[in-house]
Amino acid sequence: MKGVVLAGGSGTRLHPLTRITNKHLLPIYDRPMISYAIEALVQADITDIMLVTGGTHAGEFLRLLGNGHEYGIERLFYAYQERPGGIAEALGLAERFAADDPVLVILADNIVERGIAGMVQRFGAQEAGARILLTEERDPAHLRHLGVPRFGADGRIERIVEKPEDPPSTYAVTGIYCYAPDVFQVIETLEPSGRGELEITDVNNFYVEQGQMAFDVLEGFWGDAGESIDAYYAVNDFVRAHGANKG
Ligand code: TTP
Repeated sequence: MKGVVLAGGSGTRLHPLTRITNKHLLPIYDRPMISYAIEALVQADITDIMLVTGGTHAGEFLRLLGNGHEYGIERLFYAYQERPGGIAEALGLAERFAADDPVLVILADNIVERGIAGMVQRFGAQEAGARILLTEERDPAHLRHLGVPRFGADGRIERIVEKPEDPPSTYAVTGIYCYAPDVFQVIETLEPSGRGELEITDVNNFYVEQGQMAFDVLEGFWGDAGESIDAYYAVNDFVRAHGANKG
């Protein structure tokens, strides 16, 4: 299994901080944000990694991570996304890197308290399709900004609804996904959404429709440090007090 870390995008919700740097280089407690996603992958024994970034600060990632060996990465590849065309577009840049292996994708602004090795293991036992990580979220106001799964009577995901007015469950889709190698063919079929991006929710709903979407529910804290300046500080406070990526 290979790892893809997505660290492009515009980061407008953290303006003006993100006018002068890439969001994923901002500190979370005592280290740049990007290092938590890398650590999560390496702890799950994923050591062939591609980092996708864009914008004006791409060189800083090289300065920080180099060839990745200090972080436990065996082989580190970089890709450059020329414009923020969406999460699915960014993932598409990793097609040749993946070279017919399954991939674990992590959005580099997602910080988790517990590691993701369990999810990776369970996906390894899965023949095909996709697996996503959900987090329980009881606040409807927060759910209205997230991707929310609707469950069928059999307990499987029936549909993922992006930013629902009326959230169909109390779970949210985090930015951690496992895909079979056919994900790159799925991406090729996507049309840009209303906001001009190739949407990862469309990829996920493709697998849902095929009956090939599994999920795990995360234990412990999950934070999207790019959601707002308050979320950024909440994640900082959590990590400072409790740490992240704990076994
Ligand atoms: P988002 O938070 O959805 O988008 P963004 O980072 O551009 O922020 P904002 O909405 O505030 O402008 O992206 C989630 C993650 O996905 C983020 O960590 C970076 C990554 N990403 C890419 O790598 N390429 C992209 O084109 C986009 C949109 C996001």
